Amino acid sequence: MPVAPPTDLHRRGFLALALAAGVAPGLVACAHRRSWRSDPFALGVASGCPRPGSVVLWTRIAPAAEPAARESVSWEIAADEGFRSVVRAGVESAGADSAHSVHAEATGLEPSRWYWYRFAAGGARSVVGRTRTAPAAGREEALSFAIASCQRYDDGHYAAWRHMADEAPDLVVFLGDYIYESAPRRNRVRTHSGTGAAKTLADYRARYEQYKADANLQRIHAAAPWIFTWDDHEVQNDYAGDRGQDLSPAFLQRRAAAYRAWWEHMPLPASMRPADADLRVYDRYDWGRLARFHVLDDRQYRDYHACPPPGRAGSTTVDAADCPELLVAGRTILGRDQERWLADGLARRDVRWNLIAQQTLMAPFTWTREGRYWTDGWAGYPGARDRLLDTIVERAAVNPVVLSGDVHCNYVCDLKRGVDDPPDRVIATEFCGTSISSGGLPQERVAAALPLNPHIRYGRADERGYVALRVGASRVDARLRVVSDVLDPDATIRTAAAFSVEDGKPGAQRI
Ligand SMILES: [Fe+2]
Repeated sequence: MPVAPPTDLHRRGFLALALAAGVAPGLVACAHRRSWRSDPFALGVASGCPRPGSVVLWTRIAPAAEPAARESVSWEIAADEGFRSVVRAGVESAGADSAHSVHAEATGLEPSRWYWYRFAAGGARSVVGRTRTAPAAGREEALSFAIASCQRYDDGHYAAWRHMADEAPDLVVFLGDYIYESAPRRNRVRTHSGTGAAKTLADYRARYEQYKADANLQRIHAAAPWIFTWDDHEVQNDYAGDRGQDLSPAFLQRRAAAYRAWWEHMPLPASMRPADADLRVYDRYDWGRLARFHVLDDRQYRDYHACPPPGRAGSTTVDAADCPELLVAGRTILGRDQERWLADGLARRDVRWNLIAQQTLMAPFTWTREGRYWTDGWAGYPGARDRLLDTIVERAAVNPVVLSGDVHCNYVCDLKRGVDDPPDRVIATEFCGTSISSGGLPQERVAAALPLNPHIRYGRADERGYVALRVGASRVDARLRVVSDVLDPDATIRTAAAFSVEDGKPGAQRI
């Protein structure tokens, strides 16, 4: 990879380094020299939301640099790594009201090509990030991308991100739990900042600041554009719509703070900046005519969990026989508007693969022969899953592949309307990728339950990493990439298993 993390900047003096390297003339004009307390770009750079002609570029002036209430940050994007051919440049005003984050939209770009970008402010310059645009509509070009989720900071190191950056994917699809709001715990491999769980805007900003300082996370952000959804831990464990797990009457204020901080720290367009506790995240991203990502939000609009534990909200594991509410047909995990939007998108016939990128395991997973389900995933909303699978069948959606995260396990699943349906009734394929670092269930428990769930072709709770996918006209190949030890910052990587899905033939085949 051409991008090095800015590890030496503090020691060597970022200002001297930037000036010695020679700040590009276009950047100097808008970036008056000044004295920073420390490297203003210590939180790295990122890009996201790739379209055929545009991409969003992100950075945030680090609080430790002591920025003024407003700072001018210039940016440029070039067709070459050496910035001899700058194709777009601009200046953004980074204010304290947005945590000095920058969301620059580089437009007028050519489809399907790599670009390099960087920022400058007050005489300091960021590292160089690499990004790319999507292919033009109608073009069919191969795509390599990775799905990832759940990077709990105090559960491990981010060696997985370093290995993913080395693989140089075209795109990273992040499926939720970018931060964990949880309080610091003792005796962990790393320790969360602060004194309690994140609840206020300042708390959430500080938590993102801690995560964003990780060199391996910075490396993968600087290596490829990302597209995003979120899950619960960007706000609070197990929240559902407007209700938090602790039933706090102030939950919507907390959600507003958390949504705001999420936008501030992701390469999302300025137009998405939330004004209150609502933020539309679900969207579609096309990769020419090869693939369409339907990126879903199953947190903001879902019905409350069925049969919550006494005295609080959130999930539990229930016997279906003891929880009639679980089977109420009208319950929704996406909300009606998003369900309709998804159904409309799946009816379109102008792509070869429909990739449904969303948070949590869609396949049914029972822990007992009689039916015992965890209520936070789609297993807690079986009517909603049935509606979606019926939609896929009725609309004859082309090659549906579901991409999931959240459960800190690698699961490869055949999605069927009834779990006992024969193999020729498979409707879609699901790749549920394990966590980057967050801890999983004991493998013995998952192994004991797998025979009860024969539609789950692979299930491992003891693997950390990501899924690397390659999409071509005739097949999708998925490799489950697993680190040797999540507690080891120098962990190695291997492929634990690989599967493929053939054009026109739903269901995963082991390769
Ligand atoms: Fe998670």
